[in-house]
Amino acid sequence: MNPTLAAIPGSLIRALNAQKRPGDIDLGLGEPLLRPDVAWFEAATEWVREFGCPYSANAGMLELRTKLATHFAYPGLDRPENVCVTVGSQEALYLAIKALCDPATDEVLIVSPCYPAYPKLCQLEGVAHREVLLDPERGFEPDADRVLAAIGPQTRLVLLASPANPTGRVWPRAELEKLAAGLGEVAVLVDEVYRELDYSDQAPFSIATVHPHTFVANSLSKSHALTGLRLGWLMGPAEPMQAVVKAHQFVNTAASTFSQRVALAALDAPSHRAHYMAQRARLLQLLDAAGLAYVAPDGAFYCMLRIGGDSVKAAFALLEQERVVTIPGVAFGAEGWLRISWVAPEEALAEGIGRIARFLQC
Ligand SMILES: Cc1ncc(COP(=O)(O)O)c(C=O)c1O
Repeated sequence: MNPTLAAIPGSLIRALNAQKRPGDIDLGLGEPLLRPDVAWFEAATEWVREFGCPYSANAGMLELRTKLATHFAYPGLDRPENVCVTVGSQEALYLAIKALCDPATDEVLIVSPCYPAYPKLCQLEGVAHREVLLDPERGFEPDADRVLAAIGPQTRLVLLASPANPTGRVWPRAELEKLAAGLGEVAVLVDEVYRELDYSDQAPFSIATVHPHTFVANSLSKSHALTGLRLGWLMGPAEPMQAVVKAHQFVNTAASTFSQRVALAALDAPSHRAHYMAQRARLLQLLDAAGLAYVAPDGAFYCMLRIGGDSVKAAFALLEQERVVTIPGVAFGAEGWLRISWVAPEEALAEGIGRIARFLQC
């Protein structure tokens, strides 16, 4: 057994899910319940009828890479050479860490609370990491000064997500500009998997627009309810992307050709943002009516509830006593909080929030 792998603790989220019983209310799930449009799959099937299902180029189909590069049109990242099509954004994150960081010298600075895979992916690669926690007293507000102050001499990569999982916070343009201005040569790996699910009235702004050393991981998993498609991409400056493609080719050869055809059809379709905006409004009403302390999400489909105590104990007790699945904040680096996901149907969400309030008030 690889000792590096053996040393990585198992997933808390999985442990909680293992205790879930039929009929429990699941506010833990980080996956859309909406259905994707089957027309995208029909278009892919038509393509297969004509061309079969061959391997694509290692970096992905030229047609898809060109479409992705022009769709986002990030300056300097707008050519097919800037794109590697991956197995979900998860592989994109992994490849970026693997290809860009020298385990002997480099460190990844992770902006936290964060998606639990970030530190685990660093551990898997034997790359050192540190976390910089955004201020819980200010609702985990994105704060460039705080991140810049945490950068050390070994920091090669700053890893952040906007909108973020678990907080739902979106990095405003001014903070990203300030961060970019202070970073110099330090690269950014930005996880934009919730980019389309941004409920602010400003157009989504990417640090890729202002920082030339930016790598962007993304997919259609959340925006178009395509988690099982396992199709994502990494974008970055052309030269280091060659190393990314090299790693990708040895592990996967290429992403699924069928999935790439589905993505080509889905990319132009509107995201599910409107659905989640309506659901968010309902969520805020329910939380206010229940008198819970929370951070209002600007994006994604999660919400952090302040509980003050041991979050693992609280999540297991909630499941046992009230039969509601939530995720302990400590899984994301934020003790004293619980994350709920609000993809659940409205009645389940209302019932679940009522039960959480009852549990916390006991
Ligand atoms: C912040 C974040 N990044 C990446 C992923 C991975 O998504 P996928 O590999 O389906 O694109 C997730 C999934 O929950 C996530 O929440």
